[in-house]
Amino acid sequence: MGKVYYVSKNVGLALLVLAAIALATIVALSIAYHKERAKNRSRPGDGGPDSTSMPTPSTTPLTSKDPWDHYRLPQSLVPVSYNVTLWPRLEPNADDLYIFTGHSAVVFRCVKETDLIIIHSRRLNLTGNHAKLRCLGAVTAPAILKSWFVVKTEFLVLQLRSRLAVGATCALHTEFQGELADDLEGFYRSEYVEDGVKKVVATSQMQATYARKTFPCFDEPAMKAVFNVTIIHSRGTVALSNGREIDAADSVIDGVPVKITTFEPTERMSSYLLAFIVSDFVSIQSNQNNKLLIRIWARMKAIGERQGDYALNVTGPILQFYERYYNATYPLSKSDQIALPDFNAGAMENWGLVTYRETALLYDPVMSSTGNKERVTTVIAHELAHMWFGNLVTLRWWNDLWLNEGFASYVEYLGADHAEPTWNMKDQIILNEVHNVFAVDALASSHPLTRREEEVNDPAQISEMFNTISYSKGAAVVRMLSEFLTEPVFARGLSSYLNTFAFSNTVYTDLWDHLQRAVENTPGIHIPHTVHDIMNRWTLQMGFPVVTIDTRTGSVTQRHFLLDSDSVVERPSQFNYTWFVPIKWMKTGVEQQQYWLLQKTDTNSLMRVSGHDWVLANTNVSGYFRVNYDLDNWGRLVSLLNSNHQALSIINRAQIIDDAFNLARAKIISTTLALTTTKYLSKERDYIPWESALRNLNYYILMFDRTEVYGALQAYLRKQIQPLFEHFKSITADWTKVPTGHTDQYNQINAIGIACSMGVGSCRELIKSWYRQWMANPSHNPIHPNLKSTVYCSAIAFGGAEEWDFAWTMFKNATLASEASRLRSAMACTKKPWLLNRYLEYTLDPTKIRKQDATSTIQTISGNVVGMPLAWNFIRAKWSYIFHQYGRGSFSFSNLVGGITRRFSTEFELQELKKFKEDNLRVGFGSATLVLEQAIEKTTANIKWVTENKAHVLQWLTDEST
Ligand SMILES: *[C@@H]1O[C@H](CO)[C@@H](O)[C@H](O)[C@H]1NC(C)=O
Ligand SMILES: *[C@@H]1O[C@H](CO)[C@@H](O)[C@H](O)[C@H]1NC(C)=O
Ligand SMILES: *[C@@H]1O[C@H](CO)[C@@H](O)[C@H](O)[C@H]1NC(C)=O
Ligand SMILES: *[C@@H]1O[C@H](CO)[C@@H](O)[C@H](O)[C@H]1NC(C)=O
Ligand SMILES: [Zn+2]
Repeated sequence: MGKVYYVSKNVGLALLVLAAIALATIVALSIAYHKERAKNRSRPGDGGPDSTSMPTPSTTPLTSKDPWDHYRLPQSLVPVSYNVTLWPRLEPNADDLYIFTGHSAVVFRCVKETDLIIIHSRRLNLTGNHAKLRCLGAVTAPAILKSWFVVKTEFLVLQLRSRLAVGATCALHTEFQGELADDLEGFYRSEYVEDGVKKVVATSQMQATYARKTFPCFDEPAMKAVFNVTIIHSRGTVALSNGREIDAADSVIDGVPVKITTFEPTERMSSYLLAFIVSDFVSIQSNQNNKLLIRIWARMKAIGERQGDYALNVTGPILQFYERYYNATYPLSKSDQIALPDFNAGAMENWGLVTYRETALLYDPVMSSTGNKERVTTVIAHELAHMWFGNLVTLRWWNDLWLNEGFASYVEYLGADHAEPTWNMKDQIILNEVHNVFAVDALASSHPLTRREEEVNDPAQISEMFNTISYSKGAAVVRMLSEFLTEPVFARGLSSYLNTFAFSNTVYTDLWDHLQRAVENTPGIHIPHTVHDIMNRWTLQMGFPVVTIDTRTGSVTQRHFLLDSDSVVERPSQFNYTWFVPIKWMKTGVEQQQYWLLQKTDTNSLMRVSGHDWVLANTNVSGYFRVNYDLDNWGRLVSLLNSNHQALSIINRAQIIDDAFNLARAKIISTTLALTTTKYLSKERDYIPWESALRNLNYYILMFDRTEVYGALQAYLRKQIQPLFEHFKSITADWTKVPTGHTDQYNQINAIGIACSMGVGSCRELIKSWYRQWMANPSHNPIHPNLKSTVYCSAIAFGGAEEWDFAWTMFKNATLASEASRLRSAMACTKKPWLLNRYLEYTLDPTKIRKQDATSTIQTISGNVVGMPLAWNFIRAKWSYIFHQYGRGSFSFSNLVGGITRRFSTEFELQELKKFKEDNLRVGFGSATLVLEQAIEKTTANIKWVTENKAHVLQWLTDEST
């Protein structure tokens, strides 16, 4: 899956101007709760003519030893292929229920003698002849004695009269009916309004465990099979699935005129990658080498406005890039990508039919910002990377999810860089993934990337794997691996892995084996231990080290980096929290040979320097660790920044700032030393260092924007940002042109946003006049798309009800999802409590705010210093309701508590948080459980930090801003 929330490019800014669009820390995905609501029992029915009789499914008492009580399938039957026919009804039936009907046949082989057929099925009602078993060849199918559903483990169980022998191949036929609910799981319904008309789309999301909600299937990733899909749908709609459509015929069933679309058989694949969609969408297409059909699907209006063109433009080049990179051709005959109005994840890599949120696929050349465009590119690059890594070769079980997602989250930057070579994508991974996940992985409550297979069983445990550690730390350690092996060796090992295991399953050590072989076959490459041994330290223990280099003695040491130095690590590690650390470094500007730190302490005499010489370690931020130095070397690095910052690469400038601030948080260096790394920013023009500084200063804003320190902080930042603001004013000819550089466009947004919120004279007037012009002539928006988020937010913050209501009207009329999303965030920027409270109420009314956006809107409101206490009261008052409405399907749910509590820094707030936990134990927290624990941990740390630092920070800021 793709990441759910767009980590906004200008995260630092977002908070500074109270927009708080970004969910910078925890990009947790579906961590849904799977409490079965409806008991799912089939009605009694007649046995079919030649069917084995099928008595009423009955409840069977659960004794813990029965095979159907285990969440994992018994390894007795393996599927070979399926026929699946589905007929979704896009109109409600007489009971006002949206349903789909279907039938399916699964051919399976018996590999261990058994008299039970255990197959996944969730909330499906069997209909008609229920289930029939036929065996192929000379084998006679045993009669089905009885059948029943096991709700807890989501199985349909058939008890056979006699045992199936090893080698028997049989086909199980079922007929069923399910609800086409609007629950965003399995085969579901999505509704949207176009030109005042309500439209219904049937679409699907199978990952991780929802295929079983669509038809009875062996729903585990290793149970790969061929799927022959047929979809029955109304004439005038289009049906799509993983394979290319091979036939579409008009027919009449039960008096209903329909179209029957059949698809080519899929390749051998996992059930979680299936997709079925019926809509009235249209597409644009291109044929790559006249062979591969590439299509982009969306609402007719969106395609008409050419919003799919950019996606179509980049898909071909990205696929070609991966074909070369993986040294493996694209395995399918077509590549469909579709933008859905209602979709929980950011995107989903269904093989051959990738689904996206509209904001992740559609780009409007006139209305969209550079950030929107970059998001489209990176999400496409992420999903297409999975077509090989994940889809062609699939990890055997969900415990290895991190490798699938981490890998895709790393190579998406390579794919995007290929599509847009001028964008510095390979540098941006530092901000978006590495620095982002450092924040989470530095907590004592973090967890290792890898879990043992036995630890991940039920759907809730599986969903929990989709978190920021899997995605971003996965990306960071895969990148580190590629850096120390070198990219060509890495790509060779990867290609051999993919070609060896095509259409089958692996465990992560299979990849290490192939990389190790690539190392051994490459003369001149030397690593101090095997890939396996090196990587185990990064994947089997949580966290990462801080490496301390004392340039006076050359001593190099490592220790587990914890943001809160008082926190206690309860999780044991077989490696005692030491790592094999590959350190790239430079001395006074000269790149040195890579050095491996293999023990807790070591000495590297080359790192002993004096005079004006300096050491900088982790160049290119190629390793997943932080670096600390003796104070002399820190001093030399800071003065280098002040005298000649361009002597260091852009990402190393960002890294010095980020390391310093976090080391200070952990009390390893002083807060004032960290602040000193921002003094050179008045000369900095590049985006990545600025963004890094602003994200770190966010913490100061959050801790102090309700205290007297805020005035001094504003004065200091005003002084630092003024030159950047003037710089952009001048290179854009008084704000009339767009900067040419991709990241310069981002930094222009920072310049305006911070200048405005820190009170730079001309900024506020500029913003107000733009917004006023727009209000005067709503059909002509004079604000450049790049600047819209910032300008909307600032204008609404400076304004009142009139500005807010105008934004609301524009939000309701927005035809472009990204425009709607900008306005939705900006409306959270008002400083008027009554407007904020009204907006909070709107979030629970699906006619006002879409269900998929409810929790993220509440969170955005809490990013506003005025909105925070209102949002906190709001969710406390309505927790039970919010939890039941949004706790299951909503991906952003777990971020809600984390977002709201970010400013918490007083004893009183800590008590409130603990009380909230106690009061709602009965209701539960679902996917927010872990985040709630983290919030308590973070609040405790904040209280300490504020107590210790407030006076120093105020003093330093006061000195520096005068
Ligand atoms: C699906 O189609 C393939 C290819 O035509 C065929 O070999 C297979 O038997 C079919 N599956 C079923 C369940 O009939
Ligand atoms: C699957 O469908 C095909 C085409 O309709 C049919 O020939 C085949 O017998 C079906 N397979 C099974 C196992 O029912
Ligand atoms: C399945 O059966 C149950 C119990 O009869 C019923 O309440 C439910 O509506 C049925 N679902 C569908 C989709 O037909
Ligand atoms: C897509 O590519 C065409 C041809 O190169 C180009 O004219 C067009 O501007 C591109 N569209 C977008 C949205 O980038
Ligand atoms: Zn993914």
